Amino acid sequence: MEALLSSTSITSLHLQPPSVSTFIPPKPTLKTKLKNTYNKHLYSNYNYNTSLRISCSASKSATEATAIGSSTIPSEMKAWVYDEYGGVDVLKYATDVTVPSVADDQVLVKVVAAALNPVDFKRRLGKFQATDSALPTVPGYDVAGVVVKVGKQVKGLKVGDEVYGDISEKALDGPKQSGSLAEYTAVEEKLLALKPKNLDFIQAASLPLAIETAYEGLERAGFSEGKSLLVLNGAGGVGSLVIQLAKQVFGASKVAATSSTPKLELLKSLGADVAIDYTKENFEELPDKYDVVYDAIGQGEKAAKVVKEGGSVVVLTGAVTPPGFRFVVTSTGSTLTKLNPYLESGKVKAVIDPNSPFPFDRVKEAFSYLETNRATGKVVVYPVSEEYILEKLAK
Ligand SMILES: NC(=O)c1ccc[n+]([C@@H]2O[C@H](COP(=O)([O-])OP(=O)(O)OC[C@H]3O[C@@H](n4cnc5c(N)ncnc54)[C@H](OP(=O)(O)O)[C@@H]3O)[C@@H](O)[C@H]2O)c1
Repeated sequence: MEALLSSTSITSLHLQPPSVSTFIPPKPTLKTKLKNTYNKHLYSNYNYNTSLRISCSASKSATEATAIGSSTIPSEMKAWVYDEYGGVDVLKYATDVTVPSVADDQVLVKVVAAALNPVDFKRRLGKFQATDSALPTVPGYDVAGVVVKVGKQVKGLKVGDEVYGDISEKALDGPKQSGSLAEYTAVEEKLLALKPKNLDFIQAASLPLAIETAYEGLERAGFSEGKSLLVLNGAGGVGSLVIQLAKQVFGASKVAATSSTPKLELLKSLGADVAIDYTKENFEELPDKYDVVYDAIGQGEKAAKVVKEGGSVVVLTGAVTPPGFRFVVTSTGSTLTKLNPYLESGKVKAVIDPNSPFPFDRVKEAFSYLETNRATGKVVVYPVSEEYILEKLAK
């Protein structure tokens, strides 16, 4: 962390808001409580009155409500939803979306924070229509929140647990119709893990899909201690975690990564030994060769030129050139549980885009930003449900 904070250009990426559990609540209004506890910058553009009013009206409109502890599960919720494929404008904010029912192997999560991934907008654009779930869609894969209801077969989680995960086991093959950009989302227990205690909900929400992709890709490539790695797009959501996992979890001997000039310091702070400025150098023309190339940008043909004989090229997007292979991430809570000690020790860190978090009513703006392909680390939406935070603060 010290190393990360020592670089002035990237400090804002790594601000650690105080965790809910360490906060001592102030007396005054709910608005002041929120403002004082979580970092002020997180709330700088946030309209407290609007969000609280919307939350309350959604709860009041509920026709069937189930009491769980001190909170109430309404039958309807606010959510972002689209009923046709297209650009960001197909996204509509609704306050009367049905709260998903919970299957026996699922829990209902009250969403505190959610994160965006490129797959969210590619799906919304209709690129995966053939295998997508039916419209209308509540988008969102990544969630961090609290369990408010458990299915009959759920063994390891209970009401009140703070959890995080990627809610759709297969990202492209029948992803959930009712995603995480909503007040509640129903998730199989096996896709979730307990939130690392040192991470706040923003940090936790930023991780699941990206870190599971990073880990699965390295594992599939047979990456192991002493090997060298080149990460194409080291500053993005996935690449920033690939660098860290390669160094901290897999024991890489050398990690190189590409980004534009302003992000080179970030690459170094994450553990890259070599930071290549793609605006000034063509990595495929440099003399170095690598055991594994992790292509998180779609440069498969060039990637194949810099891999050593017998090595592997992980391709997340775009064309595949031998010896490259492409895979689509499978969500599993066990990967998160496995990586929790690295997150709790601070060896692996969440990288949050400095424009984040975007409050729930600015999800369209968050998508427009992500779709510029310039985001650094992860774009997070927070707060989604404030009631849980307020309940914790009041205790
Ligand atoms: N197959 C799977 O299972 C899977 C899973 C996750 C993601 N993906 C795909 O993998 C890709 C990366 O995902 P992500 O979430 O990491 O994306 P992201 O966070 O949106 O990536 C944004 C980053 O891309 C960088 N970038 C843009 N052009 C670049 C270039 N020519 N060379 C190097 N970096 C460049 C930008 O840095 P600069 O501003 O410095 O250019 C920016 O920081 C997406 O296409 C996504 O759909 C696939």
